[in-house]
Amino acid sequence: MQIEHAVAFVSGANRGVGAGFIETLLARGASKVYAAARDPSAIVSTDPRVVRVALDITHPEQVAEAARLATDVTLLINNAGVNALERMLEPRDEEAARAEMEVNYFGNLQMCRAFAPALVANGGAIVNILSILARVSLPAMGSLCASKAAALRLTEGVRAELAGRGVRVLGVLPGAIDTDMSRHLPPPKLSVSEVVDATLAALDGGPDEVYVGDMAAGVAGGLAAAREATQKQFAGYL
Ligand SMILES: NC(=O)c1ccc[n+]([C@@H]2O[C@H](COP(=O)([O-])OP(=O)(O)OC[C@H]3O[C@@H](n4cnc5c(N)ncnc54)[C@H](OP(=O)(O)O)[C@@H]3O)[C@@H](O)[C@H]2O)c1
Repeated sequence: MQIEHAVAFVSGANRGVGAGFIETLLARGASKVYAAARDPSAIVSTDPRVVRVALDITHPEQVAEAARLATDVTLLINNAGVNALERMLEPRDEEAARAEMEVNYFGNLQMCRAFAPALVANGGAIVNILSILARVSLPAMGSLCASKAAALRLTEGVRAELAGRGVRVLGVLPGAIDTDMSRHLPPPKLSVSEVVDATLAALDGGPDEVYVGDMAAGVAGGLAAAREATQKQFAGYL
């Protein structure tokens, strides 16, 4: 799909990757951009095409209200996500794994359900920002990996249900990105613009599953060629 004249809705738009999408969508000629955030006053753009929306994706009534507002949407970018940096066993916070599922899986599922009718009516696309950790487990953030794996299955399921109804469904699987979420990680990290550009390129005739960066592409290739060896390599990154 073309970004020019698109009507986009981006969750988690106040910082990181979400803020990068807002800036690039506007620069590439989107006619309207709904910028959604838990605190919409944190969205800094003064562009008149920006519509600020208060949205916590774990609050079903806010999700429903956002979908009622944005009936002209043609591009939904489910970007909001959390990473509690918790292991599977002996977590510091027993509730963290559930909180990750609430945002990364259930929140994004609710978004897809609420926005699908307008997208089917208007034609367009859903983009789910996942992670390469949807495909492989990194012990230091094992519960995040499980929530992103669930979101990958969610993406595949929604894609299947919308096939033939005029809505593409993309899953974006980047490696580490240089945002607040990965501030503790050493380089190399992807820039926000690398993730945004790869996503928009995929919307314009690219694949439905978008591996951003050499690391993510290497993991996908490794899993295809030598699944257990690739899994063991990640299991060693304690
Ligand atoms: N950074 C990485 O290394 C990396 C790698 C692969 C994939 N990703 C994915 O990329 C996406 C964007 O992350 P980022 O790197 O830009 O991280 P970030 O800077 O931490 O931003 C996360 C965004 O999600 C929002 N958010 C969290 N919980 C929410 C909720 N319940 N409802 C609505 N918004 C919520 C945050 O809002 P608040 O400001 O209100 O907290 C913030 O806007 C996420 O899905 C993440 O999993 C990141």
